[in-house]
Amino acid sequence: MSDTINITLKVWRQNQGEKGDFATYEAKGISTHASFLEMLDIVNEDLIKAGREPIAFDHDCREGICGMCGAVVNGYAHGKQAGTTLCQLHMRTFSDGETITIEPWRAAGFPVIKDLVVDRTSFDNIIAAGGYISVKTGSAQDANAIPINKENADLAMDAAACIGCGACVAACPNASAMLFASAKISQLSLLPQGQIEEKERVINMVEEMDKAGFGNCSNEYECEAACPKEISVSNIARMNELYCKAKFAK
Ligand code: FES
Repeated sequence: MSDTINITLKVWRQNQGEKGDFATYEAKGISTHASFLEMLDIVNEDLIKAGREPIAFDHDCREGICGMCGAVVNGYAHGKQAGTTLCQLHMRTFSDGETITIEPWRAAGFPVIKDLVVDRTSFDNIIAAGGYISVKTGSAQDANAIPINKENADLAMDAAACIGCGACVAACPNASAMLFASAKISQLSLLPQGQIEEKERVINMVEEMDKAGFGNCSNEYECEAACPKEISVSNIARMNELYCKAKFAK
């Protein structure tokens, strides 16, 4: 098998506040060892050399940690490979001669800033609406002073793996942010430290999520399938239960 491939890219190009459209680019001799973002770097170098505007895309760590990268590749958020961020996707998963379509996250809560870059301030606002947890200041107490059962500790860690990339929203037909919000709520509610302000937190975060224009969950499970950290939809059930209890239970 050759170490290089030739591909055709159909990339969404859009300036903020303007209508967008797909532009076609030929990328030749791309190493199969390159990551998807390195492939975009190579295409951009050629565009810059030709005096054309490079494709805008988000990235930071390029290690699957920060949650900055993301685009819909051939109809899949972060591409078809499960449990993988766009920066960790490699060109060896594509074929020579393939046409690859690349689009930004599409959701009312994520307006396009430019090309593949969307504004995810709405996610920051959901987190901010959650507020703080009450902990005593001063030196950290002994780790064993607050017993936490193993099952809850594991579930909290799994929920905390969410990197806030927004793939769940992009994959959902309702552009729902419930997987994201529920992961952030669960990681605190599953631990004793997060239970003091639990009611206030869940109400404020859910209401901020609705205000940002995200849709509701209709059990499509697309979010879980697209999530690069494989966050479970069981977090959504937990969030709904906590919300109902906080809002309606006497
Ligand atoms: S660039 Fe950080 S997760 Fe992809």
